[in-house]
Amino acid sequence: MRILVINGPNLNLLGTREPDIYGSKSYADLVNAIRWTAEELGVQVKTVQTNHEGEIVDIIQQAINKYDGIVINPAAYTHTSIAIYDALKAVGLPAVEVHMSDISNREEFRRHSYISPACIATIAGKGFTGYQEAIKLLAGNSDVGE
Ligand code: DQA
Repeated sequence: MRILVINGPNLNLLGTREPDIYGSKSYADLVNAIRWTAEELGVQVKTVQTNHEGEIVDIIQQAINKYDGIVINPAAYTHTSIAIYDALKAVGLPAVEVHMSDISNREEFRRHSYISPACIATIAGKGFTGYQEAIKLLAGNSDVGE
């Protein structure tokens, strides 16, 4: 089984970016945590990060026939991007939305996600653990191939 983890804008700054909200661990630490979980579960994982909305759309489109599931933290595009929603719907791969922080408990503008309706689950407020739970969810999802 192959899982693609997509991280959106500013997540490359993990560790230095608002550490009171996102913690003190770096993006490289996140990639390692994801890798360990994948190894534990015996699934293949690729983790990518971009600050550009259109690139996220390209990456989702290119996932067809290459990956069995997507874990996505669209970051700020969560609250603005119909294009990412459309891309997820278009490819039809099972996707899990992840947020490091609890978006339901922050500014009002973070409460709405355009992405959630295209995903089988949303995990928020659990930091790195959210990504690990998302991978576990996809690995156990009966819609997903070997
Ligand atoms: C985030 C939450 C978003 O509202 C914010 O714009 C981010 C990160 C999170 O992981 O908690 O950049 O997706």
